[in-house]
Amino acid sequence: MYFPSDDSIFLANIVNQYHGVIALEIGTSSGYILRELSKNFSIVVGTDIDFYSLKHILKTSRNERLICCDAATALRNIKFDMIVFNPPYLPNTKNYVDKTVDGGPTGIELSIHFLISAIGKLTSNGKILMLVSSLSDTEKLDSFIEKNNLTMKKICEKDLFYETLKVIELCI
Ligand SMILES: C[S@@+](CC[C@H](N)C(=O)[O-])C[C@H]1O[C@@H](n2cnc3c(N)ncnc32)[C@H](O)[C@@H]1O
Repeated sequence: MYFPSDDSIFLANIVNQYHGVIALEIGTSSGYILRELSKNFSIVVGTDIDFYSLKHILKTSRNERLICCDAATALRNIKFDMIVFNPPYLPNTKNYVDKTVDGGPTGIELSIHFLISAIGKLTSNGKILMLVSSLSDTEKLDSFIEKNNLTMKKICEKDLFYETLKVIELCI
């Protein structure tokens, strides 16, 4: 399980400025961000590939709905006002994968995978909020956003001593 860290806290503090009816967090892990979402959205859904993280949330869960699946692939015929994620974003140069932090060869591949999965599940005014780290290949992400005609707005940026984190908002 991924325990809430600087990136989780940074994103959670932005998430709580948004309101709506139904929200999804992809890769919820401990449920820290999902709980922030549940303060301002009537229905919240969290997915994670790691069943044991979801089992842990169940011990204290209130109205969160949890699904163990890849990104948002198990969700059909449902649209969300907001989709949030703090994806694994470290470039993986090892020959084993830590699913909590490894984002693919350049660190951005899983972010793009989450994004592809999320795009079709937004309401017409829906928004995606995602965390991006300077440790991953952000140019590859920018080019994906441009090619898919997504509207991007930078919401907040924070320098840590080893990376720069930013939260971006995307609309279709
Ligand atoms: C960096 S952690 C973020 C956890 C939590 N959202 C937070 O901010 O504290 C990324 C999460 O994505 C999950 N994950 C990795 N690959 C996934 C996939 N293909 N589908 C769904 N979740 C995945 C991991 O298990 C992990 O819980």
